[in-house]
Amino acid sequence: MKQKYIDAENKYKDLVEKDHWRLNYHLMPKVGWLNDPNGLCQFNGIYHIFYQYAPEDPKGVKNKGWGHYSTKDFIHFIREDNALFPDSEIDKNGAYSGSAFIENNQIHFYYTGNIKFKGEYDYINDGRGHYVNYFSSKDGIHFTKKKNLLKNEDYPSDMSCHVRDPKIFKKNHHYYMVLGARTKESVGCILIYQSDDLHNWQYKTRLTTKEKFGYMWECPDLFEFDHQKVLITCPQGVEQVEYQYENVYQNGYFIVNGEIDDCLYLDEFKQLDHGFDFYAPQTFEDEQERRILIGWMGLPDIPYTNPTIKNQWQHALTLPRELKLVDQKIYQYPIQETKKLRKNHQIINLKQNELYHYQTHSCEIHIEQLDKEFTINLRKDVKINYQNHLLTVSMGTSGYGRDTRHIKINSIEEIDIFSDMSSLEIFINKGEETFTARVYDEESDTQIKVSSQCHIEIYDLKAYQIIERSK
Ligand code: FRU
Repeated sequence: MKQKYIDAENKYKDLVEKDHWRLNYHLMPKVGWLNDPNGLCQFNGIYHIFYQYAPEDPKGVKNKGWGHYSTKDFIHFIREDNALFPDSEIDKNGAYSGSAFIENNQIHFYYTGNIKFKGEYDYINDGRGHYVNYFSSKDGIHFTKKKNLLKNEDYPSDMSCHVRDPKIFKKNHHYYMVLGARTKESVGCILIYQSDDLHNWQYKTRLTTKEKFGYMWECPDLFEFDHQKVLITCPQGVEQVEYQYENVYQNGYFIVNGEIDDCLYLDEFKQLDHGFDFYAPQTFEDEQERRILIGWMGLPDIPYTNPTIKNQWQHALTLPRELKLVDQKIYQYPIQETKKLRKNHQIINLKQNELYHYQTHSCEIHIEQLDKEFTINLRKDVKINYQNHLLTVSMGTSGYGRDTRHIKINSIEEIDIFSDMSSLEIFINKGEETFTARVYDEESDTQIKVSSQCHIEIYDLKAYQIIERSK
């Protein structure tokens, strides 16, 4: 399997490298398909970023394993050898998402082994093994043999076969694992397991909302920061309510009250990112005790497309974002290392409806001193309108099927747009709200026009430097 990945990379890499939509400062697959970030951690100074990777297939159906980048500074990256392949009895139909947990000077990895049994099954309540598997590493680049820890029979008897995406945390000298799950009645929930040795796990409890909130919750992440417990998860099957939940699947978080060794309660669900392309975020605490989030800049089962498929690649990761908690609300903003990418600073006092051409899509655009209501026209046909406390982002043909999304927000003081060759990450009021989307226009579409006078600062952003671990 390892060789199949290398063959696909050699076959398609020139095509991907020539694509003018490839990203400058976002991690993307060398070739083929990328989805969720996995196994995020910082170990002995080095950050490790693993991700769901299917190099043979830009549509992500074939042979999903884990790719791997490492970095010391989020500017220079090493493309490490691919880390995990769906090549054993415990993961043969996909080495799916999972996480890293550092303890006793080792990285402990937990991931989902996806098994599809042969036969006439619906693969929801029957026919699928969703296992929790384990491997570890003493250096972040050599890994032990993988082994199975939990199988379907270890989950509560009312669970469907959809139980996956383990994430670990420690509290009061115990280890806990959260798993995303779907019951046989199609109710989304989180299972919590407990362990004292990181290998033997006992089921403890489950978390869900009073009223059903979707049929499946993916990619749970339960952690404490600023003395507050938070559960991030991605519910599937939630109906749109006015301007909320406009995507096919949701991303967001609950503030969690109570104690893990007693009872936990979920507060209301809040969306993390309102854009067309954000899903399966994972967080970790780094050695400076920052809570950093990286998301998949993509989504499964979308009704829009990414034209990069024809150049044999699809999707990318978001910028790493540092999280802050303000009045029980998560703020997200690119980590400060992103500033090291800056070059060529331009300051513009833009007149009303004046068209300004900037240098490159690979840039950071800061906008402030806007009127109370405004429209920003950006690139070929992206429109950001703010009126009656509603921010509406609409895309034209450069959205390849992406239409309109909304964010309700009381007032807008400033906007930061991190633009890359085919992506936009928009941060309102230093991360109070965020909006992430892919966009496909020409290199000459570097233009901005605003219906209000405003102050704009633009920095061009350098590309990440990526070198290969093995030649
Ligand atoms: C989320 C997800 C996870 C799963 C992985 C498979 O995008 O569906 O639940 O483990 O992707 O690639």
